[in-house]
Amino acid sequence: MALPNLEESTVEELLDAEAHVWNHIFSYINSMSLKSALQLGIPDIIHKHGNPITLSQLADALNINKAKTDGLFRLMRLLEHSKFFDKVKVEGEGEEEAYSLTRASRLLLRDEPSSLAPYIRAMLDPNFMDPFHHLSEWLGSECPSPFEFKHGRSLWEYAGIEERWNQLFNQAMANDAKLVTSILVKECRHIFQGLESLVDVGGGAGTVAKVVADAFPGLKAVVLDLPHVVADLATSENLRYVSGDMFEDIPRADAVLLKWILHNWSDEECIKILEKCKEAITPSKNNNGGKVIVIDMILKDEKQHHKGTETQLLFDVLMMTALTGKERTEKEWANLFFAAGFKTYKIHPVLRLRSVIEIFP
Ligand SMILES: C[S@@+](CC[C@H](N)C(=O)[O-])C[C@H]1O[C@@H](n2cnc3c(N)ncnc32)[C@H](O)[C@@H]1O
Repeated sequence: MALPNLEESTVEELLDAEAHVWNHIFSYINSMSLKSALQLGIPDIIHKHGNPITLSQLADALNINKAKTDGLFRLMRLLEHSKFFDKVKVEGEGEEEAYSLTRASRLLLRDEPSSLAPYIRAMLDPNFMDPFHHLSEWLGSECPSPFEFKHGRSLWEYAGIEERWNQLFNQAMANDAKLVTSILVKECRHIFQGLESLVDVGGGAGTVAKVVADAFPGLKAVVLDLPHVVADLATSENLRYVSGDMFEDIPRADAVLLKWILHNWSDEECIKILEKCKEAITPSKNNNGGKVIVIDMILKDEKQHHKGTETQLLFDVLMMTALTGKERTEKEWANLFFAAGFKTYKIHPVLRLRSVIEIFP
C-alpha cells in the first residue's frame, strides 16, 4: 500500500494542503447556509426583535421543531464565524449570549432599499447553480455557455419563458442598481451634469435611469431592454421604456449608459454593442454628452486585496458559466473600446470592485 511520502513535504505542509482542499470542497456550504438563513427570514426576525436575540427566542420566532434547536445553533455558529451575525453578552437568567446583525446581514434585510436578499435568491437558485455541474463537459462542447448546455437556451431566452425566474433576476438587478446609483449621484455628478438625454441600454426595470433622471432636472432618460423586461412598465415625464435589441438599434441620446452589460458578452459581441452605442450618441461635448458610460469590473491582480481579487475572479467564472461574458483587465477593456472606434477613456474607480468608465469617440 502506497503512503504519502513525508520526506517530500513536512507533516505541517501536508495537513495544510489537506485543510486547503477541504475548505474549497465545502465552500458551497457557506453559500447554502446563507441562503437557508434568508429563507428562514433570520435577519428580519433579529431586526424586528429590536435587541440581540437568544437562541431560544430565535427558535420560538421561527416556530421550528424544538428538537432541531441544536441544528439552528450550528447554522448560526457558522454564519457568526463568517461575520453575518455577532454574538453579544446579555444580562438575565438562563442564556447569556444573543445574536445581533452585522453590517453584512443588515444588507440582507427585506426593507433595506439596496437589499442583497433578491441577489442571493437569484444567484443561488437551482437555475443558476445547475449549470456549474456541467462546466467541464461544456469545455469539450460547441455550446456557448454551461447555462445553455444545461437549459437548452440562453439566460435571456430563459427569462423570456419562465416568469418566476424573470422576476427573480430583475429584482436582483434592480436592488443592485439602487446601491450603485446612490453612490453615482453622490460621487459622479460631473459625469451626468448637463446631459439632456441618456439611454440606459439593458437598463432592466429602469432603477438607475429613474434616479439619474430625477437627480438631474432637464435630463430625459430612455431604458432599452428586451420585451419581457420592459413590456408592462409605465412611462413617466422624464423616463420612457423602449423594448428592443441593443444589437439592432439604440435610441439616439447625449450619452449611453451600459451598467453590468458588457461583462455579459464576448469580445466580438461587445464590439458590436459598442459600435451601436457610438452610432447612437450625439457627438457634441458642449453639454457633457457624446460619450458612453460603462459600469463594470476592471480585473486587478492585487495580492494585498486577496478577497477583492478572488471575488472578481468568481464573477469571471460566473459570467463564463451563465453567459458568454467575462471580466476584463484595463488592457482588455481598452482593446475593446479602440476596436469599436472610440479614441479615449477615463476610469473612475468609485465602486470598489467595479468602476465607472467614460469612453469618448
Ligand atoms: C445583467 S442585467 C443588467 C441590468 C441593469 N443594467 C443593471 O445593472 O441593473 C443585463 C440586462 O441586459 C438585458 N439584455 C440582454 N440582452 C439584451 C438585448 N439584446 N437588448 C437589450 N437588452 C438586453 C437583460 O434583459 C438585462 O436586463
